[in-house]
Amino acid sequence: GMSAYFWFEGIPFPAMLYKREIIKESRDKFVIRDEDTVIVTYPKSGTNWLIEIVCLIQTKGNPKWIQSVPTWERSPWIETKKELSMLINMEGPRLMSSHLPFHLFPKSFFRSKAKVIYVIRNPRDVLVSGYFFGRNTNLIDNPESLGTYIERFLKGNVPYGSWFEHTRDWLSMRKNDNFLLLSYEDMKEVTICDFLGKKLEPDELDLVLKYSSFQAMKENKMYNFSIIRKDVNINGLVLMRKGVPGDWKNHFTVAQAENFDKVFQEKMAETSVLLEDLSPGSPS
Ligand code: A3P
Repeated sequence: GMSAYFWFEGIPFPAMLYKREIIKESRDKFVIRDEDTVIVTYPKSGTNWLIEIVCLIQTKGNPKWIQSVPTWERSPWIETKKELSMLINMEGPRLMSSHLPFHLFPKSFFRSKAKVIYVIRNPRDVLVSGYFFGRNTNLIDNPESLGTYIERFLKGNVPYGSWFEHTRDWLSMRKNDNFLLLSYEDMKEVTICDFLGKKLEPDELDLVLKYSSFQAMKENKMYNFSIIRKDVNINGLVLMRKGVPGDWKNHFTVAQAENFDKVFQEKMAETSVLLEDLSPGSPS
């Protein structure tokens, strides 16, 4: 069931991590500054990967920062209490992360020149990643089966609501200069450097790639926040689970894939241009 959630403005939030008044405060009162950069994703789209890349770009490939400071201190979450207060007191330029849907994002952003990097991933892989995440943590409810999880996902009855709405609403920004759209399937470090106005030497870029690789990140435990929250239980293996595009094909049945495609086409009809990379394919 959905008992471990509260709903705010149509979006279900896991109650263990979030508070209604903080979501409201971050939307209405939090002041985003012109020099800020925000990493925005729908959960399980490669958030931690992008945080690692951006941090490594800032240190020109030197891994010391990412190996000694946890992700939530390098790039605090806008929508959680402790990190929001950390951000309010932080000197700029700040880096921060968020899973918030467009309509709940800090209003001040829309009057600022701050940058947003949005990562999009094949929603079928997002779904499978979220399914295994749910089964390996006490943060959200443990989905009974992939079949029921697919139904919930298609209705938006999962943490942070509908993938379709999250993606569609955020993509409305794609013509803006302060918005960079990336895809998990085609993560381009050079594009990120250009957007952030950083110029790295080829050997520095090699270091960025090296320390943000799946294997290197698996060895660096600075992304698993269960180390600070005693009540949170996350099997670290599931945060760095497989790290490949297309794993959904090993899990969906043909009927599930067809049903998914049907809903996808209905909901994403007007957004298709940029979703070409996320070609449906079929289960193996
Ligand atoms: P899988 O479960 O498909 O393996 P998020 O950080 O938004 O929660 O996303 C988690 C997903 O990103 C997981 O997907 C995880 O394995 C994948 N991931 C994390 N770091 C990665 C990396 N360096 N390269 C490729 N995939 C990565």
